[in-house]
Amino acid sequence: MGTTVVLVLASDLSSLRRPIIGAPMAGGPSTPELVAAVTNAGGLGFLAGGYKSPDHLAQQISATRTLTGGPVGVNLFVVSADDADGKELEAYRQELQVEADRHGVELGRPRWDDDAWEGKLDVVRAAKPEMVSFTFGCPAAAILRDLDELGILTAVTVTDAAEARTAAGNGAQVLVVQGPGAGGHRATFDPAAEPGTHPLTELLATIRTMTDLPLIAGGGISTRHLATEILGAGAAAVHVGTALLLADEAGTTPAHRSALRDPQFTETSVTRAFTGRPARSLRNRFMDDHPTTAHAYPHIHHMTSPLRAAAAVRNDVQALHLWAGTGYRHIRQGSAADIVAALTP
Ligand SMILES: Cc1cc2nc3c(=O)[nH]c(=O)nc-3n(C[C@H](O)[C@H](O)[C@H](O)COP(=O)(O)O)c2cc1C
Repeated sequence: MGTTVVLVLASDLSSLRRPIIGAPMAGGPSTPELVAAVTNAGGLGFLAGGYKSPDHLAQQISATRTLTGGPVGVNLFVVSADDADGKELEAYRQELQVEADRHGVELGRPRWDDDAWEGKLDVVRAAKPEMVSFTFGCPAAAILRDLDELGILTAVTVTDAAEARTAAGNGAQVLVVQGPGAGGHRATFDPAAEPGTHPLTELLATIRTMTDLPLIAGGGISTRHLATEILGAGAAAVHVGTALLLADEAGTTPAHRSALRDPQFTETSVTRAFTGRPARSLRNRFMDDHPTTAHAYPHIHHMTSPLRAAAAVRNDVQALHLWAGTGYRHIRQGSAADIVAALTP
């Protein structure tokens, strides 16, 4: 079944019963249960490979396969080379010391790693999920070709026309167009660049003129009305993350779930304060207190990790990263199948 779907997927994604892609959400929300539920509902679910060990990712792919016979996607981080500015990083470390003292914890050691890139590539080569998507950068042409030869559909997330050109040039078979309203990390290739602010419909129209590749588009979509608009603007399918955060099958933490419904949060904004890469979160005290522009990723992610763990234990939502897209006010609790159905035009 998966194979038939994927052969058509490669051309236009039109074989999906519902043109809804469950966006990968690292850090817990994208459980095998959520991924399988989105696929079983007629969409396509994505496991998030980011932060996991290769073994853990392999286990999650197997677990997902036991829950669905349909197509499964896997997402990997393409971490850029270590170009952190040591002075900037040290200044931010000193600034964060007050947060560490508040929680009575030590800051994590700021360090670079490649998120076990080679190990995870080996996992996807062996497990052959139907689709593999990449974020934060574009793999070399040889890697995309290699996956293609294994029958794996490749997708690269892009946030502007230049990134789309690179991804298409390197041989990506699908582009995931991420608009500025997206929850979580922006996929921007250059971690030092300010993420684009062109509305998703404009971005989609620009990229549509550059390539015939199938486009998956997302960022801020949490209503059927918006999903319909984006599909009408040329997307083969829409990509939704935040809309699934309250799904029964999602691994979203209780603190994150309650914050998403808490009227004290009135907006989202983009911050580098938690990880060093721009990411959209419910706006809270930590973001306001640390309007940093330091772009050391994943150094800052590692440095704030004990702070975030301590904040989670205390349920301190003012000190946690609360990833959310601009459509968060319209999201609903319930089964992933119901959420996917409600978004489908
Ligand atoms: C909690 C959370 C975690 C995310 N983690 C990832 C990830 O691991 N990989 C990735 O490519 N995108 C990640 N994203 C971005 C989504 O894939 C997608 O671009 C975004 O959710 C779309 O916007 P929306 O949240 O408004 O629907 C994450 C988003 C959220 C909300």
